[in-house]
Amino acid sequence: MDRNHSDDPLLAWRAEFPILGHTTYLISHSLGAMPRRAASRIAEFASTWADRGIRAWEEGWWDMPIAIGNLIGRIIGAGDGEVVMHQNVSICQSIVTSSLDWTGRRNKLVTEGLNFPSNDYIYHGLERIGARVVQVPSPDGRTLPLEHLLAAIDQETRLVSVSHVAFRSSYLQDLGAITRRAHDVGALVIADLYQSAGTVPVNVRELDLDFAAGGSVKWLCGGPGAGYLYVRRDHWNRLEPIFTGWAAHEQPFQFDGGPIRYAPDAHRFLNGTPNIPAMYAARSGYEIIHEIGVEAIRAKSIRQTSRLIRMADEAGIPVRTQRNPAKRGGVVTLDVPNGAEVTRELIRREVLVDYRPGAGIRISPHFYNSDDELDRAVQEIRSADGRCAPSAGHSTLYNPDPCAGM
Ligand SMILES: Cc1ncc(COP(=O)(O)O)c(C=O)c1O
Repeated sequence: MDRNHSDDPLLAWRAEFPILGHTTYLISHSLGAMPRRAASRIAEFASTWADRGIRAWEEGWWDMPIAIGNLIGRIIGAGDGEVVMHQNVSICQSIVTSSLDWTGRRNKLVTEGLNFPSNDYIYHGLERIGARVVQVPSPDGRTLPLEHLLAAIDQETRLVSVSHVAFRSSYLQDLGAITRRAHDVGALVIADLYQSAGTVPVNVRELDLDFAAGGSVKWLCGGPGAGYLYVRRDHWNRLEPIFTGWAAHEQPFQFDGGPIRYAPDAHRFLNGTPNIPAMYAARSGYEIIHEIGVEAIRAKSIRQTSRLIRMADEAGIPVRTQRNPAKRGGVVTLDVPNGAEVTRELIRREVLVDYRPGAGIRISPHFYNSDDELDRAVQEIRSADGRCAPSAGHSTLYNPDPCAGM
């Protein structure tokens, strides 16, 4: 039975997300729905630029990478001033890894088979300056036994990179155990929080993470161009990123040439001109997630992902996500024959999901979804399944290939 607004208070948020009025939106692992109020924030950017011109920098724009980072900090457990905004995770990863010494014996970078590919692209680039990249493979493309990862972390490890929740399978990793092991042998940890922050509770300080990075496109409903980087405070004065720029200087407006003198605080992890419009667009999502609270979002997510799994079992649809909610992020993957074509048909019917080869159709309820929408998705899969033949083209409105969305 579907829950109404009185026994699922989070459904009251539906009115704030225009797309929910006409679409079954179950793809927040890829692009979270836009909050209505984001449109006025974007308009505010335009009017500030138009009316205040250059004065906008000192009236708020210059401070935005930290001020907006503080809004993320409230969601991931960081303190004020400990999160800086960047365009994307790739940039954050590049800044962190460019701060570390890859030349000595401690040159091992441990990554894992569920990590997002662009992180690994950056790590392999570091092999040119001495890094030894060791990837702990996933035995099945969906999970990663903790003991395999722990065994790879040793006295020669400089950095361990791990995805909190895997983008492909929603497998949830034990960041606490990984960080403890890394610190025991003197290694640092960077966690990719992209698929957890906003749907799975995470507290960077309680976990004692050294670094964390993520973006806003997905569960944070913040749109593109607003990535974030957390660096543990006591590392600041030891880290001097090679990937830098004038905004990282202790006195950026002196425009001094020669080697940089890094800012004493988290500004030292900035580089060039910040992405101001993206931060205007993103803040509404952060405010809404914070107001609801990730604990409440997670409780609903576990209830709804469990419901999806139950319905799939009843319909005989193979489930590829972890059944144990403690090992599962916000996504359920269902594996039907011709999954790409079934996905295309669902999208044609205004049920937005996506597909990953080896994982299946990815369905992600967020706080704004109703149980009815989940029921509809499973019914549509059942009705499309069997009618869809394999085909070469996967063109869709939002993504040229439903197998290629993030
Ligand atoms: C876990 C994870 N990390 C990183 C990325 C990509 O980050 P960016 O495009 O901000 O570099 C994605 C997906 O877009 C992701 O799911």
